[in-house]
Amino acid sequence: MSPEEIRQRLEFYQDLGIKQIYRRQIKPSEVKPSEVKPSEMKPIETDIQLPSMVPAGDTLERISADIGDCTRCRLCKGRKKIVFGDGNSHAKLVFVGEGPGADEDEQGLPFVGRAGQLLTQMIEGTSAKEGIPLKRKDVYICNVVKCRPPENRTPEPDEMEICGQFLFRQLSAIEPKAICALGSTAAKALLGGKDGVTKLRGKWHKWHDIPLMVTYHPSYLLRPYNQNAKRESWEDLKKVLHFVYD
Ligand code: URA
Repeated sequence: MSPEEIRQRLEFYQDLGIKQIYRRQIKPSEVKPSEVKPSEMKPIETDIQLPSMVPAGDTLERISADIGDCTRCRLCKGRKKIVFGDGNSHAKLVFVGEGPGADEDEQGLPFVGRAGQLLTQMIEGTSAKEGIPLKRKDVYICNVVKCRPPENRTPEPDEMEICGQFLFRQLSAIEPKAICALGSTAAKALLGGKDGVTKLRGKWHKWHDIPLMVTYHPSYLLRPYNQNAKRESWEDLKKVLHFVYD
């Protein structure tokens, strides 16, 4: 790894909230890696002031240009289009989903399939009912990974890590008043930890200093036996809309 790659990796861990990394107490030259016992590992604080991972004056255009014709992970092999994100670059509210499906992959736009239609209905219908003049184009919508995983499988941790730097930059560039994480993958990518939606939903969390609400993924709500979740999702969304737009 080059020093720049190491810097980026450490910075990414720091952004994920990992404050300690471990190094061997003994000199690497003194011992083969296989001989290092866990008891010989010593925590070191990573309070080294790393330069920001977000370039000064970062913009969505620049982030998209930096992604380029990405081949950083295996997801590039099956994709038709990179799905960067869509909406208002000054949005007060950002929705983060998991990754593109077949329709999104075709069109290069997030949430345009069935789940997307439901998300649009949720945003526009709930705001109308609550007296908030908000259209889908007023918010920003993006995903944890920008390329469609094969068979719509859940993105792998390394794919999320590699693509995570771009999500980080998108959220930092937009600086919304609140973020809404749709489903477990988005919640894990943004909050870390292992808890699923059932545990996390309905409560305010934070992504860096930005309030973050977790709710169910619209695909989950499309299943007919999840009517309770649908009601809960509407409640979560109402909380978000009033917090952001009142
Ligand atoms: N599901 C997602 O998580 N994202 C999309 O863009 C579409 C479906």
